[in-house]
Amino acid sequence: MRPLVARIDSVALGHNLMVAKRLAGRARVLAVIKANAYGHGLLRAARALRAADGFAVLTLDEAILLRAQGYSHPIVLLEGFFHPNEIPEIARRRLQPVIHRSDQVDALARAKVERKIDVFLKLDSGMHRLGLQAKAMLDALARLKTLPHIGNITLMSHFARADEGGEYIQPQLDIFRRATAGLSQPISLANSATLIRHPETLFDWVRPGIMLYGASPFAGESGEALGLLPAMTLESEIIAIQPVGKGEGIGYGHLFTAPRDMQVGVVACGYADGYPRHATTGTPVRVEGRLTRTLGRVSMDMLHVDLTDIGHAHVGSPVTLWGTGCPVETVAAAAGTISYELLTALAPRVRIEEN
Ligand SMILES: Cc1ncc(COP(=O)(O)O)c(C=O)c1O
Repeated sequence: MRPLVARIDSVALGHNLMVAKRLAGRARVLAVIKANAYGHGLLRAARALRAADGFAVLTLDEAILLRAQGYSHPIVLLEGFFHPNEIPEIARRRLQPVIHRSDQVDALARAKVERKIDVFLKLDSGMHRLGLQAKAMLDALARLKTLPHIGNITLMSHFARADEGGEYIQPQLDIFRRATAGLSQPISLANSATLIRHPETLFDWVRPGIMLYGASPFAGESGEALGLLPAMTLESEIIAIQPVGKGEGIGYGHLFTAPRDMQVGVVACGYADGYPRHATTGTPVRVEGRLTRTLGRVSMDMLHVDLTDIGHAHVGSPVTLWGTGCPVETVAAAAGTISYELLTALAPRVRIEEN
């Protein structure tokens, strides 16, 4: 069997949820488990995170899967319905769509459903992705309140620069407060970054994603420093060792040239597994528990690591590509991306084991 495996630590998921709950105080926690729970497996993550007050997913299919497994939590569809023909199923399964366009209110008004639908109504407070402008949101709210088959309405928005300083949060918060002044509906604004750093964004429902998986939303700061535990550790083994002479090139394009005689390990993991091809020489990797670096260009199924100072490394030596002892954030940074992309891009061919 190929030695590459992603180990999912359900205890770490549970621990991270408790960190989120502690930070949330009286706010309730919607665990964001879209994108296959950021690569960790939707149902696996739901089980480990079942103490959350609710779940947030992207698609009706994900929500139906959760209901089929018996989860009775509130489930929010973060992009609402993509077509009005999804509304009857949304009502039947007691799902809560995000309403972010006026025509979705029209569609709800026309819908014939047997149960009340609770909705999240989204204001565009400055990200300019999803959401209504202030006046349109108030019109939508007034209209939704007249519809007999609409139940609770929660007001929401999303921050564009949540992982930066408070000066970038405040303008959106001001716009939200101004737009919703005098309204009594519950509110949901916070993602991981503002849940951790900005208590003024908490309100009634918070929506942490990345922190549940143990990664930090902040550049240059590890999840560990925030008291989080990595939920995914990507492990493999050395499958070959090559002595490389001073001046010789390594791998495709000979992108790395040995500055001295070196021992180079070949690891069973490549970009077809989701390891970033853009990871440069020097990306951290752990072999036999020792921190070392990748060398040269990542191949489809393999990558090179420097074993020169790990004399006892051998074929079969354990390798940690990211996770415990090798934060996914630092690997992502070396590839010019973020942990979210690495975790969600884990390839289906990677075997998953759960502790
Ligand atoms: C609307 C919304 N809320 C919450 C989240 C969770 O964000 P994070 O993973 O940064 O905590 C996301 C993530 O993309 C989102 O799109």
